[in-house]
Amino acid sequence: MAQQNIYDNEIFFEGYKKIRDNEVNANNLFEIPALFSMMPDLTGKTVLDLGCGFGEHCKRFVESGAKKVVGVDISEKMLEVAKLENSDDKIIYLNMPMEDISHLQEKFDIVISSLAFHYVEDFEGVIRNVYEMLEEKGVFIFSQENPLCTCHSGGNRWTRDENGNKIHLNLAYYGVEGERESVWFVDNVKKYHRIFSTIVNALIEAGFTIEKMIEPLPTEELLEKYPDYNELLHKPDFLLVKVRK
Ligand SMILES: C[S@@+](CC[C@H](N)C(=O)[O-])C[C@H]1O[C@@H](n2cnc3c(N)ncnc32)[C@H](O)[C@@H]1O
Repeated sequence: MAQQNIYDNEIFFEGYKKIRDNEVNANNLFEIPALFSMMPDLTGKTVLDLGCGFGEHCKRFVESGAKKVVGVDISEKMLEVAKLENSDDKIIYLNMPMEDISHLQEKFDIVISSLAFHYVEDFEGVIRNVYEMLEEKGVFIFSQENPLCTCHSGGNRWTRDENGNKIHLNLAYYGVEGERESVWFVDNVKKYHRIFSTIVNALIEAGFTIEKMIEPLPTEELLEKYPDYNELLHKPDFLLVKVRK
């Protein structure tokens, strides 16, 4: 299976890095706090991070007491930054697609994946491998683009009033799953749309027990500071799930 490795595209990489270098972004305000709110005590634990990108989370896991962290990513460019900015004796960065993780032949206490699964076609296959690679009672936590985002299929995403304010989301073909091409810094960025029930059922069928789901929404305080995030009340950007073996 040939995965698209869009983060190694120079233009895409520079555009993405710029967003992440800016402190005020949806990751920092919503996704990362929700992800870490679900994290168990990491003291003495082994952690596998699928699609680890710049390795910021890997570093944080070690700082929170993890004894070993393996970060896997398909993009060499992302891992170059990870090795430069977030290296540690307890972290191993591996350049490989997460679809191949069963080759690691290793078990972990905790597996996490932050905003990478919407790039993965064989979600069910990866989930089954994660289950096999977790220790008994191990925890798996992941975030992905919310299915209300991944179902976008071209055209205007929003209906706006005469002043340009977003009044509602244009939703089409939510029920048609599979590959979607979108434009984000460059044309032809491939993502995969799955409906909520497909995601939840894949986890149940793999053997997991669902412990928590979060679709982060802005608080009133946050909206006072950043009113544009009001749009999340129409459509959350992220879906986070915590499950246990
Ligand atoms: C949005 S970034 C998130 C990076 C990091 N997890 C974070 O939250 O800061 C998505 C990452 O997933 C990686 N990725 C996409 N498809 C992948 C695959 N099939 N296997 C491994 N990594 C993949 C990309 O290269 C990229 O680094």
